[in-house]
Amino acid sequence: MTFPLFPAARMRRMRRQQFSRDLMSENQLSVKDLIYPMFVLEGKNQKEAVPSMPGIERLSVDLLLQECETLVAHGIPAIALFPVTPQSAKSDNAEAAYDADGLAQRAVRAVKAQFPELGVITDVALDPFTSHGQDGLIDASGYVLNDETVEVLVKQALSHAEAGADVVAPSDMMDGRIGAIRGALEQAGHINTCIMAYSAKYASHYYGPFRDAVGSAANLKGADKKSYQMDPANSDEAIREITLDIQEGADMVMVKPGMPYLDIVRRCKSELAVPTFAYQVSGEFAMHQAAFANGWLAREATILESLLAFKRAGADGILTYFAKEAAQLLKP
Ligand code: PBG
Repeated sequence: MTFPLFPAARMRRMRRQQFSRDLMSENQLSVKDLIYPMFVLEGKNQKEAVPSMPGIERLSVDLLLQECETLVAHGIPAIALFPVTPQSAKSDNAEAAYDADGLAQRAVRAVKAQFPELGVITDVALDPFTSHGQDGLIDASGYVLNDETVEVLVKQALSHAEAGADVVAPSDMMDGRIGAIRGALEQAGHINTCIMAYSAKYASHYYGPFRDAVGSAANLKGADKKSYQMDPANSDEAIREITLDIQEGADMVMVKPGMPYLDIVRRCKSELAVPTFAYQVSGEFAMHQAAFANGWLAREATILESLLAFKRAGADGILTYFAKEAAQLLKP
């Protein structure tokens, strides 16, 4: 028996030394790819651990600013802010979402005043503000109303832009919200406020720790978000969602969760060729932390491998709770 291609094709030849591995490396992870999600608390000098997200703390604005100093020093280009709303400020119609002096809006103003070069991304969705924990307004049966919700999301996005947000990121999955928000931003003169659309956002169980972090899990009382977030079984539908958001004026699109959905990231990048982001969500972070704590996975190498996988799949940037740590690991 002969194997005509062997030994001419020895795949291991190029893997033998570091220099040739470096030369043929197809993808690179850089600190410039990383977006750090942060949870913001009311008060002063307040911090609270999130038990299901070891190492992540909710921070009051003053402490958030201290943290931003570190992030800027590390070269992290942007943060994504998530306010933790006190139960007393939640309501059926989420009025607190568009309060010009709300926690998110105050946090944006404070960060932009002190760190103008740090990109600030805000979450546009009503779940931190609704007494029922859904991302939108509901009717008597509990169904999330689309067009009525979009009206509130528009007010919320405008209040973020007025506070100085560089990017508003609708994570609510209502139909038509990108077009409505783009139109309202243009009309109000916020022509350069970008939109990062959570376009392919799945109804995922990997969001559990996040819902603990912002305190919406208790409000949801076991209800799900399947009438607006996508079915994990679907892929073509994600391409339709992303296409619509681009047509409506999104500057960037996002796939969420991340690692279990890298096939969607690849399809998005290959088929649509648009700025593509992915969110390594709270549950993915928690899984890693649990394995590290048990000594089952090697911490630093695994963090970097998990993030490089996003780049290989085609992501231009990654929202990750490991951003700060990865930035340290990537220091030359
Ligand atoms: C809310 C929102 C969620 C996340 C970001 N924005 C949770 C949800 O849809 O229930 C999840 C992020 C994470 O799990 O890290 N609209």
